[in-house]
Amino acid sequence: MIGQRMQEALNRHVQAEVASSYLYLAMSAWCEAKAWKGFARWLRVQSDEELAHAKRTLDFLLARGGEARLGAIDAPGASFTGVIDVFEKVLEHERKVTAFVHDLYGAAQQEKDRAAEVFLQWFVSEQVEEEARVVEIVDRLRMVGERPGAALYLDKEYGKRGK
Ligand code: FEO
Repeated sequence: MIGQRMQEALNRHVQAEVASSYLYLAMSAWCEAKAWKGFARWLRVQSDEELAHAKRTLDFLLARGGEARLGAIDAPGASFTGVIDVFEKVLEHERKVTAFVHDLYGAAQQEKDRAAEVFLQWFVSEQVEEEARVVEIVDRLRMVGERPGAALYLDKEYGKRGK
């Protein structure tokens, strides 16, 4: 049986992952509308991954006899100044998620909830990969700057995700 504190924390984690999925869906729609088809696809795949993270957490909560109390999701921002702005905001968001996951892991340690600690280790590692992937995109977009040919090449490359 899961403790009250971890139940509440894991419910917030489900909420945070769904909020990430919703944010990336909005970003994907923005990219699609601006003809950044590849980045739109990349973000759509990322949105799906975030929803999978939410379900993974929910399944763990339920397997431990916890109760699902899903919170409200705010409308995501939908206006961006350009594709670099989109990915800088993805990075900013992922860094917040990383801090959230670390707090969650700390709570599991304080509660001596070993099953939650082991479960959350996957998320700690996942965040390292996610941040690295987004840093790469931001760096490359900054590198190409205002050169449309190079930016379109990146769009095509990142659009291969999940194919
Ligand atoms: Fe599931 Fe990108 O955090």
